[in-house]
Amino acid sequence: MNRHSLLTMKDLSTDDILDILNDARAFHISTKDWQLPVRKALVANLFFEPSTRTHFSFLSAEHQIGIKPVDFHPQESSLTKGESLYDTVKTFESIGYDAVVIRHPQDEYFKELEGVSIPIINAGDGKGNHPTQCLLDLLTIYNEYGRFEGINVLICGDIAHSRVAASNKEALEKLGASLRFAGPKEWERDGFEFSDLDESIAWADVVMLLRIQKERGASLADMTDEEYLETYGLNKTRYASMKPNAIIMHPAPVNRGVEIDPDLVECEKSRIFEQMANGVLVRKAVLKRAFGLKPFEKMTRQEPFEKLNLEKNKG
Ligand code: CP
Repeated sequence: MNRHSLLTMKDLSTDDILDILNDARAFHISTKDWQLPVRKALVANLFFEPSTRTHFSFLSAEHQIGIKPVDFHPQESSLTKGESLYDTVKTFESIGYDAVVIRHPQDEYFKELEGVSIPIINAGDGKGNHPTQCLLDLLTIYNEYGRFEGINVLICGDIAHSRVAASNKEALEKLGASLRFAGPKEWERDGFEFSDLDESIAWADVVMLLRIQKERGASLADMTDEEYLETYGLNKTRYASMKPNAIIMHPAPVNRGVEIDPDLVECEKSRIFEQMANGVLVRKAVLKRAFGLKPFEKMTRQEPFEKLNLEKNKG
């Protein structure tokens, strides 16, 4: 496997994570697109599951840093003739592609791809991992608090089927944040012991909500959307008990009125659309890393956090 692949958050040391966040912030404060020596590079986006944010923010990032992206459509490919995922990706390698971005419904599909030499960027595997979503979540938290140590993060909802919860647990614990999980008992997962939702809402600096992943078999018998919101979602009563500076996050797509009250999706505390914008920045940084380029100068750790925020506001 190429050492610049990004498959899980376990692949990244704390320094690697901070380098990626630093690069994402560098991309943000630049007034023009960074010109990277990858202008003729070819990247194939292989999405075997529907996606709006991840797919189109990778496309945006690829275009903005000068990579030529190509989209692969499984239904129009030789997969329909029985070709394997491995042979499909080896084909991209053989015909001149420099890297691939893959989303696939199978947990750890990338274990089948160990013989591939070009970098593989995991855009989500089953309920296993979603490293670039995790990185954009980390960037959103860092932009808010300027640190991870001592930040209380509550992740609530469909933990059992969530690759976002898995990747965030891995990274946030490594970075020194405190984590709690909450949701319906049916969706508890090994290693993710649930806490009381109402008490945890008042404890959290970050309330991260998760969608019910029906496509992975999640369902709660006999519970309407309204009942779910009242029992397990962020309704207006729970919102009122959040800390004054706490923020709301959600990887999206959001089911308005199920995991969150529709009026709260774009409220003052919500960072849901900021997360999406941060997704383009971290994906530029991850693509840059995939091409073996060294991190930019360490702005994040050498300059005061407030100064970067001022620059951001000016931009
Ligand atoms: N958050 C996320 O992965 O969204 P998409 O499924 O739209 O890519």
